[in-house]
Amino acid sequence: MSATTTPFPKAVIFDAYGTLFDVHSVIAAAEQMFPGHGDALSQLWRQKQIEYTQLRTLADPAGAPGAHYRPFWDITLDALRFAAKKLHLTLGRAAEKRLMDEYACLSAFPDAVPALRQLRDAPSASSGSTSAPAGGKAVAGTAARARPGLAILSNGNPQMLDIAVKSAGMTGLFDHVLSVDTVRAYKPSPAAYSLGTQAFDAEPREIVFVSSNGWDVAGASWFGFKTFWLNRQNAPAEELGVTPHGAGGGMNDLLVFLKSLASPDRNSGTGSTGNPGGSRTRHSPGA
Ligand code: LAC
Repeated sequence: MSATTTPFPKAVIFDAYGTLFDVHSVIAAAEQMFPGHGDALSQLWRQKQIEYTQLRTLADPAGAPGAHYRPFWDITLDALRFAAKKLHLTLGRAAEKRLMDEYACLSAFPDAVPALRQLRDAPSASSGSTSAPAGGKAVAGTAARARPGLAILSNGNPQMLDIAVKSAGMTGLFDHVLSVDTVRAYKPSPAAYSLGTQAFDAEPREIVFVSSNGWDVAGASWFGFKTFWLNRQNAPAEELGVTPHGAGGGMNDLLVFLKSLASPDRNSGTGSTGNPGGSRTRHSPGA
């Protein structure tokens, strides 16, 4: 009788904006409209967008979660308006619409779709024997390892995510596209990350969470996820006392990291973390 063993990790969950979709792909249009200011506008836009999500969730009264919540699309527009004002750029309705239209259909990073396809389609490693592809038949007599589940868990509201996934050619690649809109709390609220554990009926430590945002990686690590920092911008590590379980500059580094987790000696405590920098989870004194 064949059997399918639980994969490790049970699921790989991706942040969307900045991790799969390049938020700064708006720079070209912004530069056309505001020569010499495209990059600054894009950077400040993103910074304010994230700041507003965090402020709104942080300010929610204890008895009224979601009271200050507004969908990510609205926050993105608010952030654009603020950024333009701050940079003394006159943002007419047409320019605003054009930039928001660009934001709706951001380019995917070129390594995103190929790596997601690989995770989705490749038969996963089983303990030295043939394994079954997702949804496929396990080979008799072997313990085939099902592939990990795949999901997006994003601040983006469902409609935004739907359009972004479609326009990036990612339709059908995920088991779940999870939006914090369900809980009206933005990351790094635990309520937001718990959408991932609920979707896969998993413990946090059974899930690898992947994000390009250092603050998101810290929040996900605090929640208990295994984390991979997809450090696309070669940014310095956040000073939050949290070290991701793995890190790298692109999706190939993630694939190597996941392979190291799936290897039979992953529980020995001596296996590689797959982290090019060799970083390991750092525990604070007394933790
Ligand atoms: C997201 C933002 C944080 O996709 O990038 O959730």
